[in-house]
Amino acid sequence: MLVNAQKMLEEAKRNHYAVPHFNINNLEWTRYILEVAEELHTPLILGVSEGAMRYMGGFDVVYGMVTNLMKDLHITTDICLHVDHGSSFEVCKSAIDAGFTSVMIDGSKFSLDENIRITKEVVNYAHAKNVTVEGEIGAIGGEEDGLANELLYAKFDDCIKFYNETKVDLLAPALGSVHGLYKGEPKLDFETMRRLNEALPIPLVLHGGSGIPDELIQKAIAAGISKINVNTELQIAWHDAVIEFVKEHPEKYDPRKVIGSGEEAMKNAIRQKIQLFQQK
Ligand code: 13P
Repeated sequence: MLVNAQKMLEEAKRNHYAVPHFNINNLEWTRYILEVAEELHTPLILGVSEGAMRYMGGFDVVYGMVTNLMKDLHITTDICLHVDHGSSFEVCKSAIDAGFTSVMIDGSKFSLDENIRITKEVVNYAHAKNVTVEGEIGAIGGEEDGLANELLYAKFDDCIKFYNETKVDLLAPALGSVHGLYKGEPKLDFETMRRLNEALPIPLVLHGGSGIPDELIQKAIAAGISKINVNTELQIAWHDAVIEFVKEHPEKYDPRKVIGSGEEAMKNAIRQKIQLFQQK
């Protein structure tokens, strides 16, 4: 069933595991993720960045694609359809109007007060329609959708103020993770994660889940992370398999063969992440 993020994340926070958020880029990726979710009976979140939304045609296209795949593939597991890094109220509103069940409003480029203002606006609109809202504090480093960001660690007091004033359903505090691959070992601030998890009643989100060693992912979950976003590692798993296929079969031109040659590698990467995030 298509659901908002609340129940699956509450259960994850209570039982100390993390719900996977996998970014989708096209129909094939969506099908692979849904099929693995069903195979492993794992509720999960499909994340759609604005760039991916434009690439696929628009929020209505994405909503129709996801709901119809779920119907035709007989997906019974709970799935949340979520905007990743929505840049404005208007973007979040149009996703909600199209049927998305969750949105992230990323006001991290603004001052704290402006971030609070814009996030509150989204929360008011979303909560009236039973849609969950993720907010961001600090700035997650690295590059996503061609946009580069400097890493800026979130401050504990800012996070508390942000939650009290916005009442977001989930919070992504930037605590050392970056989008894309890391140069060297990530420096995650586990202490602030732990303090925030104790102080706040809502689940915490770790962006930039790719390239973080398994033991640090487990430390982050133990420190209170309940949702982990992964995009790059799935892209690489898919890409490596496709490159191999194209080298071996340069005569194949059917896109179903070329694109589809990444299916098993990507599904294996999805299975590994789900198992890692759910280990106790
Ligand atoms: P990665 O691409 O580093 O996995 O990050 C994904 C992400 O955080 C999407 O919001």
